[in-house]
Amino acid sequence: MASLWKIGTSLTKLTKLNINTIANCKNVLKFTRKNTTVALNTNVTTANNRKIGLWLAGCSGMVAGAVVLGGVTRLTESGLSMVDWKLIKDMVPPKNEQEWQEEFDKYKEFPEWKYMNKDKQMTLEQFKFIFYMEWGHRMWGRLTGLVFLLPAAYFWKKGYFNSGMKKRIGVFSVLLGFQGFLGWYMVKSGLNEPEKQTDVPRVSQYRLAAHLGSAFLLYVGFLWNSLNHLLPNQKVEPMNAKLLRGISMRSHGLLTLIFTTALAGAFVAGLDAGLVYNSFPKFADRWIPTDLWTIEPKWKNFFENPTMVQFQHRMLATGTLAAICLYAFSMRRVNISPRARLALNTLVGMSFVQVGLGIATLLYYVPTHLGALHQSGSLALLSFGIWLATELKRVPKI
Ligand code: HEM
Repeated sequence: MASLWKIGTSLTKLTKLNINTIANCKNVLKFTRKNTTVALNTNVTTANNRKIGLWLAGCSGMVAGAVVLGGVTRLTESGLSMVDWKLIKDMVPPKNEQEWQEEFDKYKEFPEWKYMNKDKQMTLEQFKFIFYMEWGHRMWGRLTGLVFLLPAAYFWKKGYFNSGMKKRIGVFSVLLGFQGFLGWYMVKSGLNEPEKQTDVPRVSQYRLAAHLGSAFLLYVGFLWNSLNHLLPNQKVEPMNAKLLRGISMRSHGLLTLIFTTALAGAFVAGLDAGLVYNSFPKFADRWIPTDLWTIEPKWKNFFENPTMVQFQHRMLATGTLAAICLYAFSMRRVNISPRARLALNTLVGMSFVQVGLGIATLLYYVPTHLGALHQSGSLALLSFGIWLATELKRVPKI
């Protein structure tokens, strides 16, 4: 019996050994495969990675420019001046007075003119201004596409991309195309007759939020990958794996909060909800406004009731500010690299600036310069958050 037991134990040991050996072989194979890829892709070098990083930084700059230009276009009420979309023909603005007049006449057939500009008697010169704003935004979008696609094709051909980057290039291309489509889809909603004659014609807040949200995603993708290619390694103390996972996950949580607050801001912008309750911290003389739930079904209030939309944006913003401060407080004794510390400090500083800009935008009834600054501030806040998260990703674990 005892010898049978011994044989059984040795067999189990042998099987375990074999499984381990197979696992080890697999690891060796994986390792060899990885290294073979590196060896075959001789163009994936530090110098070329730097080129990719700079190019992606340029792409994120282009997207940021498009966001700001789009914001100013909306704030100057220029976004509905071009009433159709043609990929090539749109690139050339009207060449003479007759063509300008024809374009102006086309604009006059749509609700924005009928309900808003007819009484104000917009002149042809004023129309040219709003037309050029929208045209500039569209051209910037096309240019962003070229700044991305042409170098991408070149780098791909030269073998500068590893397999991960190739997949990401595919995702970015789809997102860029989708962004253009969403832009026109959004504008189209503002060209329809409003439901009630008294309604101000404006684009759907859902589509505006989708257009802004997908631009922010593109921006995040470009910047994240750019920093991963560009930031030089620093001498960083290794950190306990559990602690590192915790602080990294919470930094991603902050990014999610910033992104959600920004999306909620897009609903404020889309509904002109910055023009109700222009007081802070109270809503007129109340802490909680009485008209939060005026729409049925109730869930629609979060997206269609200007009071609720502004209320939730304020609450999310306050929550984001508090979460960033608490995170920074919890990190005060954690030994992180000087660059990560700088990223964290700038994130904290920027969150106060952004909340200040939001309050000023509200108190001054959304003037163009403050609205545009507040929008750019959200990109800056997101950028510092991304910087922090990429720095934490580089810390070695123990
Ligand atoms: C973490 C803080 C905040 C972030 C990330 C943020 C982000 C944004 C974003 C992305 C927009 C959309 C801009 C556009 O599409 O043009 C927006 C709009 C707006 N936000 Fe904020 N915001 C923050 C805090 C605040 C605060 C504290 C207030 C006021 C109490 C505020 C008031 C507004 C107003 C009034 C608008 C509408 C502006 C317009 O119509 O163009 N925001 N916000």
